[in-house]
Amino acid sequence: MGREFLDVFEEWASSYDEAVAGEDPQYRDVFDKYDTILDTVANVAEGNVLEFGVGTGNLSEKLVQKNLQVFGIEPSNPMREIAQEKFPELSIEEGDFLNFPIPATEINSIVSTYAFHHLKDEEKEQAIQKFHDVLVPNGKVIFADTVYETEKTKQDIHEEAKTKGYTDLLHDLQTEYYPLLEDLRAMFERSGFRFEAKQLNKFVWLFVAEKQ
Ligand SMILES: C[S@@+](CC[C@H](N)C(=O)[O-])C[C@H]1O[C@@H](n2cnc3c(N)ncnc32)[C@H](O)[C@@H]1O
Repeated sequence: MGREFLDVFEEWASSYDEAVAGEDPQYRDVFDKYDTILDTVANVAEGNVLEFGVGTGNLSEKLVQKNLQVFGIEPSNPMREIAQEKFPELSIEEGDFLNFPIPATEINSIVSTYAFHHLKDEEKEQAIQKFHDVLVPNGKVIFADTVYETEKTKQDIHEEAKTKGYTDLLHDLQTEYYPLLEDLRAMFERSGFRFEAKQLNKFVWLFVAEKQ
């Protein structure tokens, strides 16, 4: 469940770090301020951190630099191999947002960047309930990912991708499960979180949900 886009990463893993550096024009705006976005997430995290969709390990590196204990979860073999090669000391387990080994220690923060949109809305709801179960009281979910502020923003962004001939980007936007901000807020609040969000670039929002 929730792993339907893994094929994309079989092909993308080896050039992923070039894309986040802005080398692919179609994804330049998505990865605009990538480094700052990861810093923003890492700066809110504290204590023992569970990270989902580690990818090539760029957020994990920032968390480790803050002396946080990181438990990484990544379903894609090529992504996991690249991250492990870059950061041999990092703990990265095979798993996904819904099925993952739970560390035998308390979890203070759950973090993820550019990954939660791989889940359908009902899968997001299930994952959020699991986050609530796993976190300590007042623990936080700290994610950055593409979110549409309104239905109108969604239509405008799709239209612009179409006009620019960004067919790969448009295909992603039309097939993956990027949520509306208010739907995301409702999902977290239903599961007992206090939810706050802030826009970080044209596509990506930081959302912080604190367990109540
Ligand atoms: C766009 S990359 C982001 C990687 C990294 N977090 C970053 O910010 O650069 C998305 C990552 O999410 C992973 N992913 C895909 N489906 C997932 C799922 N169901 N659960 C957890 N991770 C998933 C992919 O394998 C990939 O490594």
